[in-house]
Amino acid sequence: MADLDYIFEQNEQWREKVTVEDPTFFETLANQHTPEILWIGCSDARVPANQITGLLPGEIFVHRNIANMVIHSDLNSLSVIQYAVEVLKVKHIIITGHYECGGISAALDPKDHGLIDNWLRHIRDVIRFNEEEFSTVPQDQYANRLTELNVIEQVRNLSETTVVKHALDSDRELTLHGWVYSLKSGKLKELCRVE
Ligand code: CO
Repeated sequence: MADLDYIFEQNEQWREKVTVEDPTFFETLANQHTPEILWIGCSDARVPANQITGLLPGEIFVHRNIANMVIHSDLNSLSVIQYAVEVLKVKHIIITGHYECGGISAALDPKDHGLIDNWLRHIRDVIRFNEEEFSTVPQDQYANRLTELNVIEQVRNLSETTVVKHALDSDRELTLHGWVYSLKSGKLKELCRVE
C-alpha cells in the first residue's frame, strides 16, 4: 500500500490545481454525465483516451480491451455500447487501434499464449478475411496493416450490433469512426467512417 502513496499525493495535487482553475469543476461534473463520444480503445497503458485527445473528464465515455475489439458475443463491450447509445445518446463512437500493439503482435505469433489466444483468434480472423491483401503486404508492414484492418473490421462489427443498427435505422445522429494512433509520433489518423 505504502508503495502507492505517491498516487494519493498526486491526486491531491491534481485536485487542488483543478479547483484553483475552476472552483465548480467537480460539483458540475458530479451532477452531469453527458459525453458526446464513446471511445473504444486498446488497454495498452500508452494509449490513454483523454490524454491523447486533449479531452477533459466528462467529455469522453471509454471502453478499453486488448486490441480494441468489438466481439459479437462480448457482453461487456455490448453493454457499454448500449448504455452509450441509448442512455448517454453519444453522437460519435470512435474505435482507435495503435501501432506496436501487443495484441496484434501476439496474434501474429504462432506460439501458445494460453487463454488469451481465444481472444486473439478474432484478430487472426481479420487476416483470413483479408487474405488477398496480406499476400502482398511486405513482412515489415504486416503488423501495421493488420492494426489498420483490425480497426476497420471492428467498426464493421460495431455497425452490425443491434444497438447501433437500431440507432442508425431511426435516423439518430450517430457516426462511427475508425482511427489509428502512432505511439512513435503521438499522432491520430482516420481510417474509416460510417454515417
Ligand atoms: Co494494443
